[in-house]
Amino acid sequence: MSITQQNETLRVISERHAVKKYDSSAALPAEHLEAILTAASQAPSAWNLQHWKFLVIEDAADKQTLLPIAYNQQQVVDSSVTIAVLGDLEANRNTVIYDQAVDAGFLAAEIRDALVGQINGAYANPQVARDAAILNSSLAAQNIMLAAKALGYDTCAMGGFSAPQLVEKFNIPERYIPVMLITVGTAKEPARPSGRLPLSEVVVKGSF
Ligand SMILES: Cc1cc2nc3c(=O)[nH]c(=O)nc-3n(C[C@H](O)[C@H](O)[C@H](O)COP(=O)(O)O)c2cc1C
Repeated sequence: MSITQQNETLRVISERHAVKKYDSSAALPAEHLEAILTAASQAPSAWNLQHWKFLVIEDAADKQTLLPIAYNQQQVVDSSVTIAVLGDLEANRNTVIYDQAVDAGFLAAEIRDALVGQINGAYANPQVARDAAILNSSLAAQNIMLAAKALGYDTCAMGGFSAPQLVEKFNIPERYIPVMLITVGTAKEPARPSGRLPLSEVVVKGSF
């Protein structure tokens, strides 16, 4: 048995694939959705700024609104929920997270203040803010897919949607940038097989 098959985490990673056909009658219990979203929020992020917001689209009417925005990809209707992963363009406002550490005595107030100054300096550059929003929220997105798979569900990450229309129809504030949609549900048909480039083509050891 390979290491991947023996290890639960590696097995879940290896078994996750993009499922596009879902059982439309299958529900995703609230407890499972919460566990999946909790896993998402446990992703690492630069400066622990947690550059994400998760818009959960689960009502039948909202799914119908989403369908044309997602270029009529039927999986947004047939899956149990679609999670729109949004990146936070103003994640520097999340430095309030450090206050807990200061209150608990883990972080000196002066260090917190210096950090906040550094972060606000970096975020004065909109490109930095945008790159960080996409980079960090993508890590949360992967956690959604792996947590769902670990609980027996399937997912499909989707970049095929109109971001401006999503923003308009779902009243997404300017602060957030749509990064990807993720359908979560119960597979009706397995994913189409997908290959991977061999490690010999994607790994460089030491230096190019
Ligand atoms: C950022 C991103 C955007 C994607 N967009 C779509 C999409 O719009 N529609 C779709 O059916 N699949 C989409 N996919 C799924 C990919 O096609 C799929 O992950 C890839 O072919 C590898 O297959 P696997 O995930 O089954 O291993 C997307 C995946 C990612 C990561």
